[in-house]
Amino acid sequence: MELQNFIGGKWTSNEELETIPVVNPANNEQLATVPLSTKQQVAKAVAAAKKAQRSWARIPAPKRADYLYEIGHKLKEKKEYLAQVLTKEMGKVIEEARGEVQEGIDMAFYMAGEGRRLFGETTPSELADKFAMSVRAPIGVVGLITPWNFPIAIATWKSFPALVAGNTFVWKPATETPMMAYEMAKIFEEVGLPDGVANVVFGAGSTVGTELIEHPDVKVISFTGSTETGSKIAELGGRHLKKVSLEMGGKNAVIVMEDADLQLAVEGIVWSAFGTAGQRCTACSRVIVHKDVKNKLQQMLVEEIRKLTIGDGLDEDNKIGPVINGAALEKINHYVQVGKQEGATLLIGGKSLTSPPYNKGFYFEPTVFTNVKNDMIIAQEEIFGPVLSIIEVADLEEAIEVNNSVKFGLSSSIFSRDVNKIFKAQRDLDTGIVYVNAGTTGAEIHLPFGGTKGTGNGHRDSGQAALDVYTEWKSIYVDYSGKLQRAQIDTGN
Ligand code: UN1
Repeated sequence: MELQNFIGGKWTSNEELETIPVVNPANNEQLATVPLSTKQQVAKAVAAAKKAQRSWARIPAPKRADYLYEIGHKLKEKKEYLAQVLTKEMGKVIEEARGEVQEGIDMAFYMAGEGRRLFGETTPSELADKFAMSVRAPIGVVGLITPWNFPIAIATWKSFPALVAGNTFVWKPATETPMMAYEMAKIFEEVGLPDGVANVVFGAGSTVGTELIEHPDVKVISFTGSTETGSKIAELGGRHLKKVSLEMGGKNAVIVMEDADLQLAVEGIVWSAFGTAGQRCTACSRVIVHKDVKNKLQQMLVEEIRKLTIGDGLDEDNKIGPVINGAALEKINHYVQVGKQEGATLLIGGKSLTSPPYNKGFYFEPTVFTNVKNDMIIAQEEIFGPVLSIIEVADLEEAIEVNNSVKFGLSSSIFSRDVNKIFKAQRDLDTGIVYVNAGTTGAEIHLPFGGTKGTGNGHRDSGQAALDVYTEWKSIYVDYSGKLQRAQIDTGN
């Protein structure tokens, strides 16, 4: 299968473009080829998006939303097919892939509902016979740069609010997972989105991404990916006075207090640490445990991990799929070596799987280090793989301090049955998302998604908050007194 860019409602030829293979990380088989576009394709896509934007914005929002309802229905119809493609190109196990497609469906219907809300404010004026209100105005052409770990869900978090608010977009998906973007573009075509409203340009961050950020007609950049790339985008975007919304790394922790339901905690830890083979921004990569229950928790954790079956995600029995590619495997391996050198104790795992049936794909064992000190590299840096560090603490205060001591601030969790501890924790944990008696993953699409510190730059995906990224506030004053009325002066004060 040869994937093509979708620009101005047309599939464009790959002639004269270099193409690279898209491979299944479970077995290294080639699934498709994807073009590495140049600045010219970006320029064409931005021009198409710009041309389409004004008339798109003039369609009443509830009518724009009708397209999102259609998209939602298409996603629903194709859910199983899309989940299979997603597992093949990204590697996550099929049950999780279905969940991810569902996240896109939920977002379609939720944002379609926004078409009949997009609430602003009406408020009294300080002057007689004068009306005051604020409305959300679209910004224009937006550039979307999305990662490979949630190739469909994250794209819907960004593109659907952008569309319902009256923007058009150019989307650069990750080169590892272009097939989901291609499937989405097919859906955009099938529901008859006007030409140029939704454009997909495949290619590298260094060319397509950079060009999107530098292009004067792209007014907003929404990015999910590494903190390193995100900071570069912020810097470059700043120079061009772009609105830049960033969603970046995490070093998320589960806190287990001495009064926790340990079985529940173990289930929450295993699901959030090893689901998606640990490749979630929200993945749990630290367990901060009260000293009184540390040994028991460790023992239960190891037992539970032994039950996990690893393999091709298309096999319903497998709980952990491959990681995305060889480079990811190397990075994970590197951190495991660092952990050993730093003096952490390897409790389970620690190796990539290289003998059949794993030898063709990129598999890493679920890995747990214990006796990890908070200042160790493995306790501070994002590994983005199935590697967990256990850190012992004496009380809640120390647990919170350890949680907050990393440079990221996406998600955190506490397992406890003490309401006082729970409320103190949800107040003092400095992350954008806090879970109580659940792991660090599982965000729902109608709440803001994002983080503090090195995770973000103050914006949020998902929920109503996403609309703030894709709209400007416009305040409108209507004076129907028929005379000049001066604010702050003719008020009689
Ligand atoms: C991500 O971690 O990159 O809450 C996105 C979750 C999912 C989304 C994760 N709903 O884990």
